[in-house]
Amino acid sequence: MRGLVDKFLIDKNRFDGTVMVTGAGGCIGAWVVAILHASGVKVAAMDMSEDRRRAALIMGEEAAAQLAWVACDVTDFAALKAQAEAHHATAIIHLAGLQVPFCAANPALGARVNVEGTINILQTARELGIKRTVYASSIAALALPPGGPYKETLYGAYKLANEHSAFVYWSDWQVPSIGLRPNVVYGLGRDQGMSSKNTTAIHAAVAGREYTVPYSGDYSWLYAGEAAAAFIACASFEPEGAPVFDLNGRCEKLEDGMAIVREMAPEANIRCEGAEFPFPADLDESDLRAFVPDYPAISLREGVMDTYQGFAALKAEGRLPELPE
Ligand SMILES: NC(=O)c1ccc[n+]([C@@H]2O[C@H](COP(=O)([O-])OP(=O)(O)OC[C@H]3O[C@@H](n4cnc5c(N)ncnc54)[C@H](O)[C@@H]3O)[C@@H](O)[C@H]2O)c1
Repeated sequence: MRGLVDKFLIDKNRFDGTVMVTGAGGCIGAWVVAILHASGVKVAAMDMSEDRRRAALIMGEEAAAQLAWVACDVTDFAALKAQAEAHHATAIIHLAGLQVPFCAANPALGARVNVEGTINILQTARELGIKRTVYASSIAALALPPGGPYKETLYGAYKLANEHSAFVYWSDWQVPSIGLRPNVVYGLGRDQGMSSKNTTAIHAAVAGREYTVPYSGDYSWLYAGEAAAAFIACASFEPEGAPVFDLNGRCEKLEDGMAIVREMAPEANIRCEGAEFPFPADLDESDLRAFVPDYPAISLREGVMDTYQGFAALKAEGRLPELPE
């Protein structure tokens, strides 16, 4: 499975120590640790969960088993700082978080993980003098202040609070950071959430199952490898300030993505139908690309084909995951 990350490899000399990756057990985290590991960059993969399943989908079970994996809750500041110190972290990619439905179901826990967890990351960077901190915000932050065209959520409110906190950590204590607002991520490992259905359709085509994506029209296609490469590029230098950038990927029709799958698997019984996805699909990411060192931009065709072939390789190895609910 090494081939999946080959196009995203980065020169290890752009890093001067270990990169600590929180949320390493999640989709973007799995890609980040797989790319860094394959590039020869030292990684401390951190997650509350010990589950390396998603990382193993991308980098193979053997390589995933070799990762330095740290079980740590980002709400535990003392443990977090101690781990960063123990691993001599010189960069942090902070991806741990609870998604929209989990924040809605348990708002206090959502605030603890998403807001306090991010404060703990920024405070760790401050106390240890770490100058390369990148954290995941979200396009959900764009729905605030209220009254705009997009749906306001607690998740978005927490992410916006993080962007403001990062600004104050820079202005008051000169702790630099970069915030990225990913749009809809797809690819191996994307197996939960309302925006994961395009990935599930590709998975279904490989599994020989019928599937309908409940949306149609314009969609943000942000390939998971590209999203991970963007986070890694942001961690590869010391920025000034605390800028925040949209990370969109390609704006393309869901129908066109499904058609590419059917070119590869004419017998696939997949389709999309319904309203447009209720979030913007065409955010401008040119500011990000102007700010950070170059990283690959993956076309819809390339990303869909890589995802299809990735699932097909897992199937051939007898490791194709169950189709998500
Ligand atoms: N996937 C997307 O389309 C998308 C879009 C916008 C923003 N984001 C943001 O990017 C980040 C990564 O997204 P993802 O899709 O990989 O998420 P994910 O849900 O797949 O993974 C999140 C990870 O965080 C871990 N985690 C949860 N609580 C924790 C805690 N208290 N301490 C340590 N680890 C904890 C979970 O175990 C999980 O492995 C998140 O912050 C998310 O909000 C993702």
